[in-house]
Amino acid sequence: MEYSDLIKTRKSRRAFKPKPLTEQQLNSIVEAANLAPSAGNLQSYSFYLVKDKNTKEKLAGAAFGQGFIAEAQAVFVFFAKAPLSAKKYGERGKLYATIDAAVSAAYAQLAAENLGLGTVWVGAFDEEKVKELLGDDGQPVCILPVGYPNENPEKHPRQNRLRKTV
Ligand SMILES: Cc1cc2nc3c(=O)[nH]c(=O)nc-3n(C[C@H](O)[C@H](O)[C@H](O)COP(=O)(O)O)c2cc1C
Repeated sequence: MEYSDLIKTRKSRRAFKPKPLTEQQLNSIVEAANLAPSAGNLQSYSFYLVKDKNTKEKLAGAAFGQGFIAEAQAVFVFFAKAPLSAKKYGERGKLYATIDAAVSAAYAQLAAENLGLGTVWVGAFDEEKVKELLGDDGQPVCILPVGYPNENPEKHPRQNRLRKTV
């Protein structure tokens, strides 16, 4: 899909078909997530690909019962690894690590969309539960369920956030 169409048509999907995803599709999303820019190219983030049903259900529980997480065929989880970035950039490095994880998740989201798959960025969850589930001591930033969409919601309008050109 053309990039300009991709960003205009993408919307969050919160219902997924039980149709499996191919390794090729998943690899393409992983590749995009790894291609994201990061502060100083330190890549101060980690991510996980969850396919296991039981773990997906636990993630849905950690996300306060957002059941569509368990419904998705694949679930990516992105963590900020602040110590990596803070070693070079100090206090501001902690912010950079969060941004690194978020940019990587955004790349993954657009890559999935480009494959005709649906996603939704999930940011509401119990951090400690997600950390424990995946055994990562970073800060979880985003849970990204991916699958064939089983709903077609209205697009949410946007305001123009540009305040001025100087
Ligand atoms: C940081 C962040 C956290 C979010 N958390 C959730 C969430 O926990 N659950 C959910 O259903 N959607 C969540 N969303 C998705 C937004 O609700 C959605 O992107 C927004 O309403 C715009 O709709 P659109 O993605 O269809 O354009 C989150 C999005 C972002 C960027």
